[in-house]
Amino acid sequence: MAERRERVWPIPTRFVMPCPPVSPIQHSAIDDRDQVPNVFAMKFLSDTTSPAHPDVLAALAKANEGYAPSYGNDPLTAELRERLAALFGCELDIVLTTSGTASNALALSVLCPSHAVILCHDEAHIHRDERGAPEFFTGGGKLLPLKGDHAKIDPALLAAALAEWPQDFVHTTPPRALSISNLNESGCAYSPRELMELTAPAKAKGLSVHLDGARFANALVSLGCSPADMSWKAGGDILCFGATKNAALGAEAIILFGETRDRLGELQARQKRSGHMGPKARFIAAQMCAWLDNDLWLDLARKANSAAREIERLLMRSGGAEMAHPVDGNEVFARLDPVLADQLQKAGAGFYAWPDGSARFVASWCTSAEELAAFEAAING
Ligand SMILES: Cc1ncc(COP(=O)(O)O)c(C=O)c1O
Repeated sequence: MAERRERVWPIPTRFVMPCPPVSPIQHSAIDDRDQVPNVFAMKFLSDTTSPAHPDVLAALAKANEGYAPSYGNDPLTAELRERLAALFGCELDIVLTTSGTASNALALSVLCPSHAVILCHDEAHIHRDERGAPEFFTGGGKLLPLKGDHAKIDPALLAAALAEWPQDFVHTTPPRALSISNLNESGCAYSPRELMELTAPAKAKGLSVHLDGARFANALVSLGCSPADMSWKAGGDILCFGATKNAALGAEAIILFGETRDRLGELQARQKRSGHMGPKARFIAAQMCAWLDNDLWLDLARKANSAAREIERLLMRSGGAEMAHPVDGNEVFARLDPVLADQLQKAGAGFYAWPDGSARFVASWCTSAEELAAFEAAING
């Protein structure tokens, strides 16, 4: 029998890199690992804490009958692509993921090379909340955050940035992509005209446009326009179309429009390489198909938006709150009198203290009349 030889590699201490341990994820000022969202009588922490819709769950059970090809080669994914093409009124390609962060980072990785810049708002989720995923997936692409009220990019500042960062000067990193969130991070919607005010000058300089549509449905029903008007017709090249926040378990479609469809192969390769190509993609497609059936997605977004408007109305009536941003979707940002904030928290309202000093209340598809009544009672003391 061969002698078993252990090879021990003593690592000299000078080669051991100091690597402090990464602390466990904490979502915000309130640590919701301890304060399980369910304990709140009024669940306004985030729409990601909401359950999935029963129709989505039923569709999963149906998709579970029998076998299907893997890695997105299944009939449900093909059906979803056709339905999205009809919905958006154009030819398109899709790649499915289970998180908005994965969608954004993958989408941006095909729009922005490692030596280039992505312009976005300073409040953008890709800039503030994705732990460097876009930089990681682009292999070094640089985010250049721009200002603007209510988390909307100011067109004048975009024009200045485009002038200041030319494509061909040796020292500057050239912008290659513009990223816009709609609904945005302050709960505001860009109209198609506002989108075009940003996308037209960006495209004139050769940039591609990424749309973060984690709450696309909420913006859409609020604006009352068509999905096409809010995406490719407004200059969008890639849309990260999210269902997770609006009643899916975890379903996001990266939608490629126009010439960007030529990048499908690269996007799929990056999706696989990064471990985001779900082998049983049919279950993501099934969720999204059920969500689109009979306009369920629009009904649920309307419900969430109307609950947010009610939260806004009650806060405004209280006399102890002022709105930090217009309420265009399902999120309410309000500056609260500390007495009112305390009263709401003691009554069991779950909401986050936001870094800008406001309080964020998020309504979801299943915010109930009881929660809104409890909120009113809490405000009335
Ligand atoms: C505007 C926006 N984009 C993207 C995301 C990312 O979604 P996920 O949490 O699924 O990665 C979020 C999540 O809150 C978001 O608010």
